[in-house]
Amino acid sequence: MSGFDIAIDGPAGAGKSTIAKLVAKEKNMIYVDTGAMYRAMALYMLRNKVDLEDRDAIAGKCQGAEITIKYQDGVQCVFLNGENVNDLIRTEEVSIAASKTSAVPEVRKKLVSLQQELAITESVVMDGRDIGTKVLPNARLKIFLTASTKVRARRRFDELLEKGMKADLMEIEKDIKERDRMDMTRAESPLVQAPDSVLLDTSDMSIKEVADKIISLVDW
Ligand code: DC
Repeated sequence: MSGFDIAIDGPAGAGKSTIAKLVAKEKNMIYVDTGAMYRAMALYMLRNKVDLEDRDAIAGKCQGAEITIKYQDGVQCVFLNGENVNDLIRTEEVSIAASKTSAVPEVRKKLVSLQQELAITESVVMDGRDIGTKVLPNARLKIFLTASTKVRARRRFDELLEKGMKADLMEIEKDIKERDRMDMTRAESPLVQAPDSVLLDTSDMSIKEVADKIISLVDW
């Protein structure tokens, strides 16, 4: 680890990736979206028709998924067995599948090592669920970003509409609650606030306010 990493954790839709990208740009650091790796793994399971309730099947299959990260024009691209899957991993189906597959210890082991490798040579702003607690326990700054379920659902709804996709607010809120439940109650690296992290509730904050707040906490 470079010793100057920023870990941003929190539930789905708290604004982690938007904020992490802004902070990384401002501080000239590399942004790593770990959720995208779990999403690529979930896509692999869906494509291979693995039963997502069968943890042994997921554990057995995950070694066949070669997941790598590359940066193209500063944008993180996640590759699944050589294919850029960035545009295929943002659907609700993949979101739910990622929440399920990410609970399997073998999946986490594989992706956590990859994430730790990425931080060896570079100073990173990494976002996810277990970055401050597990992936980068020595991160110089740890943030726990959260917001109310209603606000998170509304943000996701607006994001989908902006992309021209169909969305149902009630359905999204239900999915977010279900993902929170799965992410927080799993046995392996559940989503919890690291004791040495700064808690930021972004429900009533603008993107700029949150980014400015985090940048003000960076002491290097
Ligand atoms: O951040 P995201 O919504 O793209 O993440 C997708 C899923 O991946 C999420 O439901 C939980 C899982 N995840 C995880 O378990 N650990 C991480 N570090 C990042 C994501």
